[in-house]
Amino acid sequence: MVKICCIGAGYVGGPTMAVIALKCPKVQVVVVDISTPRITAWNSDQLPIYEPGLDDVVKQCKGKNLFFSTDVEKHVAEADIVFVSVNTPTKTQGLGAGKAADLTYWESAARMIADVSKSDKIVVEKSTVPVKTAEAIERILTHNNKGINFQILSNPEFLAEGTAIKDLFNPDRVLIGGRETSGGQKAIAALRDVYAQWVPIDKIICTNLWSAELSKLAANAFLAQRISSVNAMSALCEATGADVTQVSQAIGKDTRIGPKFLNASVGFGGSCFQKDILNLVYICECHGLAEVANYWKQVIKINDYQKTRFVNRIVSSMFNTVSGKKVAILGFAFKKDTGDTRETPAIDVCKGLIGDKAKISIYDPQVQEEQITRDLALKKFDWDHPVHLQPMSPTSVKQVACVWDAYEATKGAHGICILTEWDEFKLLDYKRIFDGMEKPAFVFDGRNVVDAEKLRKIGFIVYAIGKPLDAWLKDMPAVA
Ligand code: NAD
Ligand code: UDX
Repeated sequence: MVKICCIGAGYVGGPTMAVIALKCPKVQVVVVDISTPRITAWNSDQLPIYEPGLDDVVKQCKGKNLFFSTDVEKHVAEADIVFVSVNTPTKTQGLGAGKAADLTYWESAARMIADVSKSDKIVVEKSTVPVKTAEAIERILTHNNKGINFQILSNPEFLAEGTAIKDLFNPDRVLIGGRETSGGQKAIAALRDVYAQWVPIDKIICTNLWSAELSKLAANAFLAQRISSVNAMSALCEATGADVTQVSQAIGKDTRIGPKFLNASVGFGGSCFQKDILNLVYICECHGLAEVANYWKQVIKINDYQKTRFVNRIVSSMFNTVSGKKVAILGFAFKKDTGDTRETPAIDVCKGLIGDKAKISIYDPQVQEEQITRDLALKKFDWDHPVHLQPMSPTSVKQVACVWDAYEATKGAHGICILTEWDEFKLLDYKRIFDGMEKPAFVFDGRNVVDAEKLRKIGFIVYAIGKPLDAWLKDMPAVA
């Protein structure tokens, strides 16, 4: 029986290994982590992450060929294939701070693999890493030369949160990069055999190590670039009277452009896009490619502009002040169908409103109050470095309430900001909400989920990203 061990039981390690276990009943899969609460949760009925379909997959294999453990060294020592799926955050200090990937967690995992291994292993980079990381890892693994053969593969993960199980069951492609030696090719074949249990062979792409590592950063940069492009258009739409949804539809019909990832929004969030583009920018700078670095930096600048523009629009619409006014925040997760808040645009919008002294009342169906409080207290990039947790400042605490109902959040509010596209926000009784709010009552739809015309008929003043502006909003221009 092939034994797989995955280091890192997070958003990638957990679902990916659960699907491998389900699809490969003859493979034993153990997911290990240094975080005891995370492993305890995986071993309970309340999984540590919310992902549609995940519960069912885990239930089918847990205790049969899928195990979760904190005994990291034992399971790594016993494995034939070791996936490393630890966090690779942006550095917050020192050389490359604010851009470069922090490989502390990766390096400590690699050193541990080197120390405990007694048999040959294939070590798979599942985390997103800078190009050439495999070379550094190879050096670490072979530094004490115990005569063990380590083959390093790059097998970046392309799943998106909220659709992780669907993406893993039916991936657009699986990418495996390895050394162009016979040992490297044998290792590629071994990993390909695992995926071939359910992925059609023509969807498994095999490349050299550096192409695989770079393709992951490139894919995320291209995806984020599409969102920044459509968000840049959304500002122009508001200025000209064009409708961004109509523009997206019109350009998306061109088969060379395609219809996906053209939804204008308050900005992209999530743990990957910004981090990976910053990492790409840093790599370009290190290679003296300043023009290329600046090109990709612009994707992030537009994303920041979009979030600032949204906050400014709220404040300017409400007579240029939100001081002491209650503003309801509907949705805190970075997208629907996840409880993940990493780099969610809601953090920037809430901080902007708190900075302007608003009182905010937050409701998200999947995000706990404790998480929101922590997110609003963290400094930029600290979210992926758990040791840096800081308490929230007392003034901010007073300005924030987290509630478990959209009606409660909006009661007595002057404005509503929709920041996550949860389906339930489309179905709310907006007449009831309007009746309970201060007047004039505003809706700022950062996801284009509500029927603006219907809401206007009720009496709301509605701002929707990239849509023609209400007369009220035209009279109160926002300066970005
Ligand atoms: P995560 O923070 O959810 O999980 C990482 C886990 O690794 C944590 O539970 C942490 O405790 C554990 N860990 C860290 N160091 C360890 C060590 N030395 N030994 C054992 N466990 C250790 O992160 P994630 O979202 O799963 O992302 C993991 C990697 O995958 C990152 O490089 C990320 O960029 C990449 N990625 C993420 C996504 C996504 O949608 N989240 C998608 C594709 C790729
Ligand atoms: C992304 C990549 O899609 C995935 O391939 C990679 O493995 C990890 O990073 P994820 O961040 O989970 O996945 O979600 P994604 O669906 O890409 O959305 C990212 C952000 O962009 C979200 O905040 C989402 O709301 C936003 N978005 C997405 C838009 O604003 N408009 C769109 O059209 C699509």
